[in-house]
Amino acid sequence: MIPFVDLKTQYARLAPKIDARIARVLQHGQYILGPEVAELEAELARFCGARHAVTLASGTEALRVPMMAEGIGPGDAVFMPAFTFTATAEVPVAQGADPVFVDVDAGSFLMSAADLERQIARVRAEGKLRPRAVVAVDLFGLPADYSELSAICTREGLFLLSDAAQSFGGTRANRCVGTMAPVTATSFFPAKPLGGYGDGGAVFLEDGKLADVYRSIRMHGAGEDRYDIVRLGTNARLDTLQAAILLAKLEIFPEELERREAVARRYDEQLSGVVATPERVAGARSAWAQYTIKVDRRAAVANRLKADGIPTAIHYPKPLHLQPAYSRYGRGPGSLPVSEDLSSRVLSLPMHPYLEEPTVDRIAAAVRRAVES
Ligand SMILES: Cc1ncc(COP(=O)(O)O)c(C=O)c1O
Repeated sequence: MIPFVDLKTQYARLAPKIDARIARVLQHGQYILGPEVAELEAELARFCGARHAVTLASGTEALRVPMMAEGIGPGDAVFMPAFTFTATAEVPVAQGADPVFVDVDAGSFLMSAADLERQIARVRAEGKLRPRAVVAVDLFGLPADYSELSAICTREGLFLLSDAAQSFGGTRANRCVGTMAPVTATSFFPAKPLGGYGDGGAVFLEDGKLADVYRSIRMHGAGEDRYDIVRLGTNARLDTLQAAILLAKLEIFPEELERREAVARRYDEQLSGVVATPERVAGARSAWAQYTIKVDRRAAVANRLKADGIPTAIHYPKPLHLQPAYSRYGRGPGSLPVSEDLSSRVLSLPMHPYLEEPTVDRIAAAVRRAVES
């Protein structure tokens, strides 16, 4: 079976560096907020050009901490695409706020600005919830159009949070993910473009005072003294060991992003005209967390590929408004037609920097056979 994501080959390449980094942590023994955490924050900020990076325990915590800092809670409406991973919605719900699901564009898989404006107007007209925030999701690695979204949020007085769990390393309009929205949250889940060996995440922002608030929240709301509790916080720190591993991986991340782009281009060349390939957006570069095509008869195609030794995945089989946990916040089947249609047709193919050209060609040939059979 071809690996869907190949962390073993990556480790074989990086083993001496990762092992040395881990050994150093074991020697100094500062497992919580050790020196590697600050070092990683400086390197991450430098990589993307953000003024501040605050590392956190996961991508989910990277969504939660900014929402806690904003005081988002009961009575607040948080707008987000329905076609995303559950973490985007579970955080505002856990804060007591209501997610308001927005449809996406069929080509880019990204939140539709036109539908966002419609949903904001609808919520205002209903008068039950207070519009507070928009969470834009850079699905599959493609950055959203933050200039358009920022204009809407500024006009409407809404906090804009970028869920860049899948897109760290991506660019759009000459800006790197981490600098496009007022606050950007990413994930270092192992399968992400920049992944650790466990959970991890980070937020990026320009505002130094707010970065200090996030650092306080991740450490139980501590003030100058750790037992001086100045606000409600939580435990959301990134482990020193994960920071050490990520530092080794960050060194080769630019090259890995180039490889992901090359794999995506090769898939495009072989598959355009055969299936619907991911839309290219002028001036944008995806981090290619996923290479996701659209097919009819998806189950049959996936089964054929499996028989050929090619794993696939479905991101995501149900839009959030149709998930039992969120149905009370949605308006039922038919309310977000593009998200519903995509959920029945998307299929992600193996994508990682260590996919060799002949393997990409083999996968593409198998896709061709599967859709034509
Ligand atoms: C869009 C999106 N948001 C949030 C998350 C949450 O990240 P984590 O798994 O690191 O908590 C993920 C990934 O898992 C994701 O894909």
